[in-house]
Amino acid sequence: GAVAEHTFIVSQVKMTHLCKETLVTVVNGQLPGPAIEVTEGDIVAVHVVNKSPHNITIHWHGVKQWRNCWADGVPMITQPCILPSHNFTYRFDVVGQEGTLWWHAHVPCIRATLHGALIIRPRNAPASYPFPKPHKEVPIIIGDWWGMDLAQVGSNMMHGVFNDYASASTINGKLGDLFNCSGTPEDGYVLDVEHGKTYLLRLINAGLFSEFYLKIAGHKFTVVAADANYVTPYTMDVIAIAPGETVDALLVADAPPSRYYMVALPNQAPLPDTQTPEHSTRGMVRYRGNPCPSNSEAASVSSCNNEEGRPAGSSGDVPVAPEMPDQHDTITSFYFHGNMTSRHQRRHSPVPVEVDEHLFIVLGLGAAACPRGLSCEKGTIDNGSNILVATMNNVSFQPPMTSTPLLEAHYYHTGSLNKTKELPDRPPVLYNFTDRALIPFGPKEKRLEPTTKEMLVRRFRHGAVVEMVFQSSAMLQGDSNPMHLHGHDMIIVAQGLGNYDAAKDVARYNLLNPPAKNTVLVPNLGWIAVRFVANNPGVWFMHCHYEFHLSMGMAAVFIVEDGPTVDTSLPPPPEGFPTHDDNLMSDGF
Ligand code: C2O
Repeated sequence: GAVAEHTFIVSQVKMTHLCKETLVTVVNGQLPGPAIEVTEGDIVAVHVVNKSPHNITIHWHGVKQWRNCWADGVPMITQPCILPSHNFTYRFDVVGQEGTLWWHAHVPCIRATLHGALIIRPRNAPASYPFPKPHKEVPIIIGDWWGMDLAQVGSNMMHGVFNDYASASTINGKLGDLFNCSGTPEDGYVLDVEHGKTYLLRLINAGLFSEFYLKIAGHKFTVVAADANYVTPYTMDVIAIAPGETVDALLVADAPPSRYYMVALPNQAPLPDTQTPEHSTRGMVRYRGNPCPSNSEAASVSSCNNEEGRPAGSSGDVPVAPEMPDQHDTITSFYFHGNMTSRHQRRHSPVPVEVDEHLFIVLGLGAAACPRGLSCEKGTIDNGSNILVATMNNVSFQPPMTSTPLLEAHYYHTGSLNKTKELPDRPPVLYNFTDRALIPFGPKEKRLEPTTKEMLVRRFRHGAVVEMVFQSSAMLQGDSNPMHLHGHDMIIVAQGLGNYDAAKDVARYNLLNPPAKNTVLVPNLGWIAVRFVANNPGVWFMHCHYEFHLSMGMAAVFIVEDGPTVDTSLPPPPEGFPTHDDNLMSDGF
């Protein structure tokens, strides 16, 4: 394929929002960063020049990186960090994937400002799209604005301190007019449309914390793809999107020409009383290109609009606003995700029926001793001896403290993978996970499991069919759990509310046309069942994409062994790939 070459200059720039100037780390001076747009089969080469004071890596979220784990961009798992005033080139191909993915820094919190879209079109697009040809394609990146030093926020979280919150939500980097600086409204994102035309919205949730509901007054969306996999088109008046997820949706500009608010509402906020609906970001869809005749009396309201997009003859100063779901409504998201089916019945890549390994993974919170090498004074709980951690089957992930990245150690058998702990198949204690009153651990107000921090690893034979059931627990309260697997897509066979029960839930599995995703949202107080084939040799991170949980240890490393042939094995690192000798260790993700 063709080579799409990009240079990413990572640097700090000053941005001012809400009357406060903040130094933010971005690519090429932009927030969001530059979009990479390629055709399926192309090769992507990105030269990263780190002119910021931070250690960074960049992860190509959702790119399969087939036999190319070296380019996956996870600090100390696949590569050493790119140190300040160092460079690194990522090279990968995009084969067999079409749709919207994205890229982001994979160090704590800095991804809130260091991210952008990665758009993969089929050959001969738009004619070859399996949906009506759009007039235009529009990336819509939903995120949050922090107005503080994100590296500091990240380091606070690693040490168990959680006092920082985003100060606003954003669409394509703009806060919108629900926010103001001393009475002057912030700019909002504006999408200009022409009446009758169809737009392909490429939606990405790049936020650290919040799931979002997105609505446009007077309009509906037809969802056509998610996580760069086509889905059976379905029409909704709301999009639900969790951190890490992408959704491609068609928008038909078929409303009377006017101005319509586009609102992204953060839902399942970690602290309901600090993130109120006022923290929604508001942009606008504005009808253009259909001007009224100069004698506006002759114009009919529905067929033309003046320069500002207002219908002729209307007082029209206030755009139409959508009616949003309740901020704590989790059921709309449950159905939005549950509506998804794959566009293709799985004739060509059938759903694996024989499962080799079953993992039942309960997500929770625990109290663990402060790991050696960290100072946790500020974040201690239980009279100072423990920190708050996030767990899977009651173990919390401890980032590697060696100087050799795990992938390097795995490839050269250099042994630093010795001090690992296997991710258990199931939780140590079974209880009613979704009933807060029945959590068996700790004093009533805390309900934390006593636990430990470990380098959690799970090895899979090449080609193993793995089923994972993620079970959310009441311990997490309203927190969101979008679980992300690097290097593979997961096939979602079922989701449900309450406790998973194999005896009855397996019968409900969709093995005919289940959707495939790299990030799967575990329903609040519910479960999701996924399968994947561990066939991409390498060392892959699996973690919650909710930044609190990731920093607190809701993560594990999956090692996929080499297959029987050269073609199914991990090749050596690309030439010039930095080893532990060249760089320092990192301090997180
Ligand atoms: Cu988008 Cu490991 O993350």
